[in-house]
Parts: sequence; C-alpha cells; structure tokens
Amino acid sequence: MKLTYYGHSAFGLETMGKNILFDPFISPNELAANIEVSQLKADYILVTHGHQDHVVDVEPIARRTGAKIISNFEIVSWYGEKGLEGHPMNHGGKFKFDFGIVKYVNAVHSSVLPDGTYGGNPGGFVIWNKEGCFYFAGDTALTMDMKLIPMTCPALDIAVLPIGDNFTMGYEEAMIACDYIDCDRVIGCHYDTFGYIKIDQKAAQKAFEDKGKELILLPIGESLEF
Ligand code: NI
Ligand code: MN
Repeated sequence: MKLTYYGHSAFGLETMGKNILFDPFISPNELAANIEVSQLKADYILVTHGHQDHVVDVEPIARRTGAKIISNFEIVSWYGEKGLEGHPMNHGGKFKFDFGIVKYVNAVHSSVLPDGTYGGNPGGFVIWNKEGCFYFAGDTALTMDMKLIPMTCPALDIAVLPIGDNFTMGYEEAMIACDYIDCDRVIGCHYDTFGYIKIDQKAAQKAFEDKGKELILLPIGESLEF
C-alpha cells in the first residue's frame, strides 16, 4: 500500500492497482497549492462525513474520473441526486470491493453537507487486503469504540488519526487511541490547516517517541509505502 498526503485530511491510497482518494479538500487549501487536483487519479473516493473541509473537491473529481463514492447512506444518496455513482454503507458494516474489504466504523463528530442537508453519522474506514490493513479515522474524538477495531479487523499496519485538537482529538489522545487500536504507527492529519488546529509538530512527535510510538507528519505531496 502506498499513501500520499494532499493536505488537511486528504490522502490518496494506491493498492491492488486501484487509486482511492480520501476526503478531498485540496483546492481551497493554500498549504496544498502544489497539488494539481485536475491530475489526481481516482477509482474510488471515500468520504468520512459531510463537512466542507472533507468534501469540497469530491464532485469535480468524481465527474472527471467516474470514481465511485463510498460513504454513509445519506452522503452517497446526496451525490446520487447529482448523478454521481456511489456505494452506501453504515456503521459496523463491511463490504468486499475489488481493492479489498472496507469496514465503516464509528467516529464521534458531526456531519452536515455543504447545503445544510443532513449528512448521516460520521465515520472512519478500515481497509484490508493481502497488501496490508489500514485505518482512516476521519474527524473523531477519542472513543472507546476504537477498541472494537482490533477485535473485528486484521492487525493494523498503520493508522491515519486526526491530531489537531479543537474539532477532533489532539495528539495526546491520539496516543491513547494507539493503545485502543493496537497500532503504534500513526500518520497525523487535520492539523495546521486553520488557526484553531495549529500544533507544535516537534512536541507532538516527541510525545509519541517518549511512549515508544511513531508519529509521521508527511509533507504535502509526499508518499509513504507500508
Ligand atoms: Ni468535520
Ligand atoms: Mn474536518
């Protein structure tokens, strides 16, 4: 699996010959000005919840690429009315796609679409196939439900967790989440994009290191293979 960071909570995953985009909020993000949205490849777009800072580039990318949108029922239905193809899921359910199994798991947050439409319950995704197993938490607080992941999914290789605080958990709680999900290798997201979520990157990484954990903060546009 190869994961590329596009800023904020936007990532691209290459696995089993497919390109999977997560929460594309790229074009309004000045920090991601080096990313050319019109060049991104996508077979699927996974959307954790309806907030603007996770969905703003979904529609143009889906129209250009024909990518299928995977999200909760309410979000997939909203895009369906715009003529975009999707696959609806809901909490606790998993489905075998051509790139692997996707399980939609709980997130403690809120979810409303840009026009005010109810966006269902927010979630995260666990994705696994013979190349690995990966957790994409989405916007969430630390929640005891994270303990269900190691009970119901294969062992995680890596997890993308929000660390910016204010709207989601901060890095201190992300370290507790590591224990709940049984994975000490974390890629941070949802930090530094706006004033409310600015963090001290060095302090965050040192806090992880002191607990024998790893916090990877990918420069925007950089990739990691795992
Ligand atoms: Ni949000
Ligand atoms: Mn957000």
